[in-house]
Amino acid sequence: MNKTTVIKKLNDMMNLEISGAMKYLQFSYMVFGLNRKPSIDFLREQATESIIHSTKIGEKILSLGGSPSISSQEDLKVRKISIEQILKESTQIETKALNGYMNLLKDVADDVVMDNFIREFISEESNHLEEIEKMLRV
Ligand SMILES: [Fe+2]
Ligand SMILES: [Fe+2]
Repeated sequence: MNKTTVIKKLNDMMNLEISGAMKYLQFSYMVFGLNRKPSIDFLREQATESIIHSTKIGEKILSLGGSPSISSQEDLKVRKISIEQILKESTQIETKALNGYMNLLKDVADDVVMDNFIREFISEESNHLEEIEKMLRV
């Protein structure tokens, strides 16, 4: 395993998770109507999960001898958006995370612990994606 490459990619994933958390939290302030309560509960759960993911990754970067560096270019504006549209954009967040972790698999293939670490994220992101896709199903 090339530690430098893995640390760099983990740092990117940490920041992707942080930007995901920010998007979910912002979405939760843009939902109105009858389904507001279950919708914001779901969105804030996803925001929390993303923070948990980014925190775990930051700790792993430290364990590997790196220094986690948080940054975000997100500029999230309040806008009028339907819950369907929020969920569609949420599938993009989850797909991006899933692809990012999938991409890391080949870099950690020779390290059982890291391989297992990444696979857990893959399993959780694919669950998130499946849940959102079910909510979008009509
Ligand atoms: Fe995540
Ligand atoms: Fe997720």
